[in-house]
Amino acid sequence: MKEIVHKYLDEIASFVAETPEQIEEFRIKFLSKKGIIPDLFGEMKNVSPEERKDFGLLLNQLKNSAQQKVDLLQETIGKRESVNEKATDLTLPADFISLGSRHPLSIVRKEIIDIFSKIGFTVSVGPEIEDDWHNFTALNFPLEHPARDMQDTFFIEKSPDIALRTHTSSVQIRVMEKEKPPIRSVFPGRVFRNEAISARAHCFFHQVEGLYIDENVSFADLKQTLYYFATEFFGPDTQIRLRPSYFPFTEPSAEMDISCFICGGKGCKVCKGSGWVEILGCGMVDPNVLENCHIDSKKYTGFAFGMGIERTTMLKYQINDIRLFFDNDLRFLRQFESQS
Ligand code: DAH
Repeated sequence: MKEIVHKYLDEIASFVAETPEQIEEFRIKFLSKKGIIPDLFGEMKNVSPEERKDFGLLLNQLKNSAQQKVDLLQETIGKRESVNEKATDLTLPADFISLGSRHPLSIVRKEIIDIFSKIGFTVSVGPEIEDDWHNFTALNFPLEHPARDMQDTFFIEKSPDIALRTHTSSVQIRVMEKEKPPIRSVFPGRVFRNEAISARAHCFFHQVEGLYIDENVSFADLKQTLYYFATEFFGPDTQIRLRPSYFPFTEPSAEMDISCFICGGKGCKVCKGSGWVEILGCGMVDPNVLENCHIDSKKYTGFAFGMGIERTTMLKYQINDIRLFFDNDLRFLRQFESQS
């Protein structure tokens, strides 16, 4: 008798099933009322009293292993079935795939470039690590001149000659050294300043510089070009205002304000009640700068301008903390998905 039970134990251990029907067949064979195991329990009375206890234990073992086998097979086949059903149910809606989005600074940089390229401006770039000549001297910042302190510079390895560029105006020099007028280009890029990080300032940010050099370029051309940009970027009702200012590389120099696009000039939080928002610096390229790049300042004139991309983006989307651009918090970045 014992041998038969051991044979069944082996059979149960090696049993495999592919379908729920096979499991059910197995269950009926061993565990149903008329199955092998109840049958064997019925044989107990024919076993001698000395052996009955051992035989009973063995039968319990047989019953447990058959039941465990059924449970295990049902669980694994059940799981497999539900995966299969999911994989083959073509009526289910597709899983959502996020395509990601452009960074808000990239969206605005592209928009600025697109606006200027419509009126013939090309795009150039220059190095982020600059020498003193391109970042300062050629731009008419004399050595020891206090204007150099307008921007807190990061120097490289204590060399006074090499620094992280403090503005994209350095690219003006690189382009003018290389190309002959007429020149009509914008230069987007990252700039660096040794400033404490706060909601308003960061130690690096982005600018777009513009340069137009040709014969007979006048201040009126500068004004009209910037007016075109302002209305394209901020909307057709935008007004501009130029205030006299100082930059070493332009003469005369100005800062441009636009009428507040939030309140239309009435005064609000964004324009701090003034109705105007400062947008960029600009001016006519100083003849010294042209001569530094071997461009004849008697024959050619030109204008330049420079604006911060973070500042422009913050105004456009009413973002109140510059650090948000660099945190890479997806909850912030996902808000620009529809713009990309
Ligand atoms: N480079 C200036 C800055 O970083 C911005 C600027 C002002 C650029 C006047 C210009 C300009 O080209 O003409 O603050």
